[in-house]
This record gives sequence, C-alpha cells and structure tokens, in this order.
Amino acid sequence: MSQEPTNPREAEIDPTRLPRHIAIIMDGNGRWARARNQDRLFGHNEGGRALKAVATAADELGIRYLTVYGFSSENWRRPETEVNGLMDLILYWLRDCLDEIIEKRMRLRVIGRLDDLPTVLRAELESAMRVTQAYTRLTFTLALNYGGRAEVVDAVRAIAEKARRGEIAPDAIDEADIAAHLYAPDVPDPDLLIRTAGEQRLSNFLLWETAYSEIYVTPTCWPDFDRAALVDAVLEYQKRVRKFGAVVE
Ligand code: FPP
Repeated sequence: MSQEPTNPREAEIDPTRLPRHIAIIMDGNGRWARARNQDRLFGHNEGGRALKAVATAADELGIRYLTVYGFSSENWRRPETEVNGLMDLILYWLRDCLDEIIEKRMRLRVIGRLDDLPTVLRAELESAMRVTQAYTRLTFTLALNYGGRAEVVDAVRAIAEKARRGEIAPDAIDEADIAAHLYAPDVPDPDLLIRTAGEQRLSNFLLWETAYSEIYVTPTCWPDFDRAALVDAVLEYQKRVRKFGAVVE
C-alpha cells in the first residue's frame, strides 16, 4: 500500500483516460543542489530518491509504462568526476531499488548503447532485466547512454543489413519497419512527456516516439518532483485534446 497522504487532486483523475506511457526528462538536479550550496552529485542522489518515489506513484496510479532519461549520449561531455559519480550512483540506485522493483512486480528495462557503460553496471542491469522480464505491472525503462538520433541510426543500420541480405526491399521500408527496429519496439509511444526544471526542449530524447506526445514542462526541479507533481501532470494531460493531425470537433 502507498505511504502517501491522501491528495484530493488524485480523485479528480479520470481512470479511463490515463496516459498509458509517461516519459520524463529529469532535469534540474544541478540547479537544485546549487540552490542548497551542495555539489551536483548531491542533487543527482536526491534525483535518484525522487525517481524511486515517482515510479512507485506511477505504478499505483495505474500507469503501464514509465521511461526516464537517466544519462544521455551527450552527458559524457560532463566533467569526469560527475560522469563517474553518476555511473556509481546509478549502480547503487539499482542495488538499493531492485528488491522493491521485484516485490512490486515491475519490469525493468534499459534502452541506449549499453556497451559503453561500465562493465559491472551493465552486467547488473542485464541481470535485473532478466529477473524482471516476466513481470506485468509497470514497465519501467531507464534510458542510459541514450540518444534519440543514435537510436534511429541503430534502427537504420539493422534495416540496411536486412536489405543487404535481401530480406527487405528498400522501397518497401515504411514507418512500421523503423518503429520495429527501435530499442523497445513493443513499448507504445509516450502519451505524455514531462520535463522538469523549465527548459522547453527535447534534448535528443525519444525523438521518433514522441511525435504525438503531449508535452508538459514544469519549473519544479527533478529532486522536488513527487507524487503530487505527477498527479498535476496527469490532470493537465487529461485536459488536452489529442488530434494526431486530424480535426477534432
Ligand atoms: C539532469 O540534471 C539530470 C541528469 C543528467 C541525470 C539524471 C539522474 C538521476 C535523476 C539520478 C538517478 C538516475 C537513475 C537512472 C537511477 P542536470 O544535472 O542537467 O541539472 P542542471 O541542468 O540543473 O544542471
């Protein structure tokens, strides 16, 4: 059961119109830390705590898929101490959360170019994915060493290889073929993309998959984003009219 106090706004959520898949750009850990005279890794650590709580809340609210941007393919450009600190933090976060993920029957997945992650982190992530692969509650995906353009490049390479082997005709390649070669082809596109800390950009996150996602930007820095903030985002989503390019009367 949830430990959260009852939030009256939760009762306003229409359970028949929940976003099936929520994606989150967890931004603002550094600013949150600076505002408290702490170093950036302190902010990332608090971000890890927020992530655990938000995944639990998403599952309890009935969300089926949650995908979060944990480390982008561009984040390697950060100072070495921050990169190493983040890799360690993600490993410790995984060790800290895995029992609860299993207990809650969440399926943990990872998308991105995993080959470049530290060996131990990669091995433990792969083991966690194996252990949880049959679970049917929240599908909880971490994007690590992830880039939206790199994902499309990897899909195109795989399709080109099939074309070279004569398994697919180039002029028959369509959107469904590209989608089928992305990192998580069985996961539906995000209905709602949340970005914390105010910036209004995609930052190379799920470029193909967010073509028709509703975007919700909040000024709240990620470490302060909690169950109530998630409820606010879902309520805002439920006010939107999704048109997918068509006319809606
Ligand atoms: C962006 O904030 C955040 C990141 C680059 C890392 C996100 C990592 C976590 C939330 C830790 C836990 C993650 C996982 C996957 C277990 P920023 O540093 O760019 O903030 P700033 O823009 O205020 O400097």
